[in-house]
Amino acid sequence: MQQEVANFIFHNPTKIVFGKDQIPSLSTLIPKDKKVLITYGGGSVKRFGTLDRVREALADYEIGEFGGIEANPTYETCMRAVELIQKEGYDYILAVGGGSVIDGSKFIAAAAEFDGDPVNIFAKGVGTGEEVKSALPLGTILTLPATGSEMNGTAVVTFKEKEAKVSFNSIKVYPAFSILEPELTYTLPKRQLANGVTDSFVHILEQYLTYPVGGARVQDGFSESLLRTLIEIGPEVIDEEKQDYAIRADFMWTATIALNRLLSTGVPGDWSTHALGHEITVLNHTDHARTLSAILPAVLSVRKEAKFDKLVQYAENVWNIQEGSDEVKADAAILKTAAFLKSIDMPVSLTEIDVKQEDIDYLVKQLEAHGNTAISERGDQTLAVSRDIYEKALSLEI
Ligand code: NZQ
Ligand code: ZN
Repeated sequence: MQQEVANFIFHNPTKIVFGKDQIPSLSTLIPKDKKVLITYGGGSVKRFGTLDRVREALADYEIGEFGGIEANPTYETCMRAVELIQKEGYDYILAVGGGSVIDGSKFIAAAAEFDGDPVNIFAKGVGTGEEVKSALPLGTILTLPATGSEMNGTAVVTFKEKEAKVSFNSIKVYPAFSILEPELTYTLPKRQLANGVTDSFVHILEQYLTYPVGGARVQDGFSESLLRTLIEIGPEVIDEEKQDYAIRADFMWTATIALNRLLSTGVPGDWSTHALGHEITVLNHTDHARTLSAILPAVLSVRKEAKFDKLVQYAENVWNIQEGSDEVKADAAILKTAAFLKSIDMPVSLTEIDVKQEDIDYLVKQLEAHGNTAISERGDQTLAVSRDIYEKALSLEI
């Protein structure tokens, strides 16, 4: 018998401020009495003038700055910002950047208010996974559409010494607001644009490509429409010379909705591509989205039977494959997915991202250390299945 959609509560408190020249509205979004710490990454916001625009918009505020939050933000760097907050007394954080800056800032916001050792905000073999009871208010200005962090309560942080990349979730770290100016994406290089398309694509798939659920036409319909959008605009998005407002606007809003938890309401999810991918970033620092792209076709191929009904639906509704048996449709959808990723210059095998046969033991051991021993929508992806996926992904032949 088909399973029904589970009970759910959907509560997303983030205000989205979308469009052209929205940074000046900061002065209406942040209460006037706040002392604001502006957080940013390796310098792109300085180079491209975004930070100057922010400073101008906050001319009447007491502000400070903390730069240097790296891609795949580290615990150590974030804790330096926490110290600064405690020393200088900031009571609002404004993150200006991509997923790394926003994630790092969410952790900083929670750690600054945390009673105890902030490492315990995390679980998964790193800390004790305590509840975040409060956090400093956080606003964001998104410069890279990809992670959805601008409208969710997730933060992923890297612990270098513990060789771990782990996340925590809390309603307390949803941004109060996020400014989405599609024109801020015009300075992104092709590699980051392709990463953004891919990360969003995989976020949607991991909430959609599981098993059919009664009463989830809305979730499926949203997912299918967003996937078709990315397939349609992907090649134009990655053309860094083509600074087309409409295309970038579609891209930015798709990436946000892809992981603002709207698609996962009451339906199963399969975050195994992300789980397997995070371990690769820990191993050799490959960009987050490139790990996903290198793993996804192998996941679909190894898990074809488990995902069969949804794969056929995906083939018909997303790729418009109407001919042939269900088997033929499912296979064709996997091939189309890999071809799409290739067409936007993403890797579709582990060899392309410098992972070798001899690394697989380490990757599987890491999955075990982080409690990822029974993952996917049914919890039946054991370490042995994950090993098969890594092996298959080495040199993909599908
Ligand atoms: O650091 P700067 O100098 O700003 O440069 C960044 C960085 O080098 C650059 N960049 C950002 N905006 C730019 C720009 N360059 C030119 N013009 C702009 N407008 O892009 C580089 C990558 O930035 P990063 O923030 O690291 O990328 P992304 O947004 O892909 O974030 C990746 C991180 O997010 C986590 C990933 O694991 C990874 O740590 N994720 C967070 C999620 C969440 N919070 O829900 C879910 C995701 O699945 C993901 O795991
Ligand atoms: Zn992701």
